[in-house]
Amino acid sequence: MSGNLNVCLKPLSSSITRSKLKFRHEWLTAVLWLIASAAFGQIAPLIANIPGRHDTSLNGEWRVIVDPYDVGSIDYRAHPLKNNSAFYKNHKPQSPSDLVEYDFDTSGMLSVPRDWNTQRDSLLFYEGAVWYRQLFDYSLPTGHRLFLHFGAANYLASVYLNGEELGRHEGGFTPFDFEITGRVKPAGNVLVVLVDNRRGKEKVPTDNTDWWNYGGITRPVTLVEVPETFIQDYVVQLAPGSKGHIKGSVQLNGSRLQQKVTIRIPEAKLQQAVETDATGHAEFTLTASLTLWSPENPKLYKVEIDSGADQVSEDIGFRSIQVRGQDILLNGKPVFLRGVSLHEESPLHPGRAWSTEDARVLLTWAKELGCNFVRLAHYPHSENMIRMADEMGVMVWEESPIYWTIQWENPATLQNAENQLREVVERDNNRASVIIYSVANETPVSDARNRFLRTLIQQAHGSDPTRLVSAALESHETTQEGHATIQIDDPIAGDLDIMGNNEYIGWYTHTPAYTDTTTWVSPYNKPLIMSEFGGDALFGYHGDPQTRWTEEYQANLYEHQIAMLKRIPFLRGTTPWVLKDFRSPRRTLPRFEDFFNRKGLVSDGGERKKAFFVLQKFYQELETEKANAGTATGH
Ligand code: GCU
Repeated sequence: MSGNLNVCLKPLSSSITRSKLKFRHEWLTAVLWLIASAAFGQIAPLIANIPGRHDTSLNGEWRVIVDPYDVGSIDYRAHPLKNNSAFYKNHKPQSPSDLVEYDFDTSGMLSVPRDWNTQRDSLLFYEGAVWYRQLFDYSLPTGHRLFLHFGAANYLASVYLNGEELGRHEGGFTPFDFEITGRVKPAGNVLVVLVDNRRGKEKVPTDNTDWWNYGGITRPVTLVEVPETFIQDYVVQLAPGSKGHIKGSVQLNGSRLQQKVTIRIPEAKLQQAVETDATGHAEFTLTASLTLWSPENPKLYKVEIDSGADQVSEDIGFRSIQVRGQDILLNGKPVFLRGVSLHEESPLHPGRAWSTEDARVLLTWAKELGCNFVRLAHYPHSENMIRMADEMGVMVWEESPIYWTIQWENPATLQNAENQLREVVERDNNRASVIIYSVANETPVSDARNRFLRTLIQQAHGSDPTRLVSAALESHETTQEGHATIQIDDPIAGDLDIMGNNEYIGWYTHTPAYTDTTTWVSPYNKPLIMSEFGGDALFGYHGDPQTRWTEEYQANLYEHQIAMLKRIPFLRGTTPWVLKDFRSPRRTLPRFEDFFNRKGLVSDGGERKKAFFVLQKFYQELETEKANAGTATGH
């Protein structure tokens, strides 16, 4: 079933994606993908700024059928079902003698958005198919169009409306939508979504990860009503490296593509009208003196886009992010990224995070640590998290799940990875907080891997020149007379703006004190973010600093790590592993792990471990140094 099946049955709109006009590479990928899935047509282009639209939530309790043997989609000969025994038909017995072996109305319920694993004990380890059904009425005014938008569903989602397939989406962490104009009825609509989270070597991520494979409709489901010709997408960002030069674009979708569109930033007394071309696309530039977005002052401006028939507005921050030699420059000034890595697990309930409240609490913890930056690992987190980072002034490293041993030679795997990257760039390219796209984590060096990653790096640079590209690389160590030298010489580092590196000295290798005689070097004149370091501790388990799993061991490890990090001349950021303990199927040790990775600085119960305060002190020192030195680089 896998292999980039993002499809719908009939092409739904004439407008073409933004990539064709702006970015040849992306456009070629999109066309190739179109040809590949011509049999099934095309998923609707992503609509920007769903929160700013006329929207109706379909969140809530959905009827579900757990289907471990896919009896809802294939018969006993494994042939796809097309008749009423297919669960998406939502069929009912027409007479007492009618045999129908499924019934959503008497089946259980699950909350949406939410993973299924933490809603029922019986589903904690479940990997397979689950059918979701929601009923809704919708009176669509004439001349308006309706889209069905998903924030995300892990992993493969097949979507049906009123017994017809709309299409499929592959990838558990990015948004997708389908046009349902002409399919929706005023009353009694039956929406069925088959979600399958089975792992596979050819998938992205592949079948081996150190995080829980939460399945389900994990982010909001929304009906979005728009005029016949509407503002499908737009970018309003500072041109790379500038302080007051906005470079943007707008993309219309519908039959009246050539129109006047006005861009307004009232607070900056900015207004400009542009004419879209025959494809509904226009580019524009604006010049203004703006208060630039930064962690110290996360200034957002209300930006309005008006095409007459359609208006959208949202709060956007303006900042520039660049590298210069070994420095990272925010708004032209060197900055040190005081960060922490985190998984998308809620601090408020077991399982996946998705809500603004989840985001606010997690970012508040990070800020309590003294962070101005977070690494959202190892996949795109929810739009709520990114918008909260904009609001709270936290810079973001956003990662695509190219993790460990992906099938580098498999063209479908590459296309899938390209598609997931395209979707996250299109979702977040107006977010000031997102400063870095990461295209990989701990991937073994090989020619095929290098080719694969270079394709993604080019795509990221090509589709969004306003952000930096990185990856969490591995390095190798040589020792001489008891002194270790670690070299970051991964071949793709040359293609990146920033080198990321994961190291576990003191946990997986050596002792914490080994760092005292360790030096880091790199042939690349680039900034380094130490994207992972740390060790496990069970909250409340105490002992001497040599005893593993104790808080004292973890705190001691951090003390030594920080001393080593301070000696790395090209270090410009740190995102220790990890903010909060998180579930992992790889962690089986009773009492200490119990299917949790315990490298959190905060326990899964929200308690701060001793190491939390060691890192907090380091970040406070950096902040004070910066304030004193009047420069942002100090350490
Ligand atoms: C790896 C990996 C993480 C993992 C961590 C660990 O470096 O990137 O996903 O959880 O190490 O082993 O704890």
